[in-house]
Amino acid sequence: MKWVGGKRQLLAILLKNVPPQYDRYIEPFVGAGALLFALSPERAVISDINPEIMNAYRVIRDSVHALIASLRRHTNTEDHFYRVRSKGPGRLSPVQRASRFIYLNRTCFNGLYRENSRGEFNVPFGDYRAPRILDRGNLVVVSDYLGAHRIRILCQDYKKTASLARPGDFLYLDPPYHPLNSTSSFTRYSKGDFTEKDQIELSHVFRELDDRGCYVMLSNSNTEFIRPLYRGYNIQEIGANRAINCKGDRRGKRFYEILVKNYT
Ligand SMILES: C[S@@+](CC[C@H](N)C(=O)[O-])C[C@H]1O[C@@H](n2cnc3c(N)ncnc32)[C@H](O)[C@@H]1O
Repeated sequence: MKWVGGKRQLLAILLKNVPPQYDRYIEPFVGAGALLFALSPERAVISDINPEIMNAYRVIRDSVHALIASLRRHTNTEDHFYRVRSKGPGRLSPVQRASRFIYLNRTCFNGLYRENSRGEFNVPFGDYRAPRILDRGNLVVVSDYLGAHRIRILCQDYKKTASLARPGDFLYLDPPYHPLNSTSSFTRYSKGDFTEKDQIELSHVFRELDDRGCYVMLSNSNTEFIRPLYRGYNIQEIGANRAINCKGDRRGKRFYEILVKNYT
């Protein structure tokens, strides 16, 4: 899935920083799960506040063939796109809902997931020549992985997910980033926003997890506001090339991020 803040481009550096051994892998802001799928742990807890992406994971695990059949029926036309977009996901079956979500993700402008204040998906048609609406091989591999292992799939606020962590678990925290400047922000993955108050609370959760004996790694933007919140921890400055940016003219520009760990 294309996902704002997706970590595919940072994978090499993230993988180098994963602790060599841990019990369960816990990802409370899992999004499109770049690190999850790269690590493919046998025991994991994954969650996100976005109900569409978490429903998609459950359907991929439990009903992948029905999902494939449904995705096959979609077409990449503007009429069909707006018809599908206008359907409230709450009225659809889990399979139809996942199919709608994947279809919109593949065909909407920039693969962005954005909702208006009423919680309705409002990204326009992307008008791409041949978007890959159905990637059968990938869906089957993901389905087999999620079904074969003990992967708990939740949809809740990150604090509830973090509260499940036990000593020896490894958590990767990849929250909506603190904006680098007032125009670059994209923190609205669903109704509601991730504010500076939320960033401060998150840093407290990081410290609690550290006290509990978990391994914790966190990504965020490299700003004057964020760095002091993690004083005393191992902070690396890293560059990231953002593939999705709302402003076309800034696409591909390098922004700086940090990776914080409570271990070396
Ligand atoms: C930077 S993205 C994570 C990207 C992910 N690592 C990937 O590779 O695709 C941040 C995610 O946090 C989720 N989110 C926002 N607020 C949240 C909250 N309070 N609790 C849990 N998830 C939240 C968003 O829906 C989004 O998927």
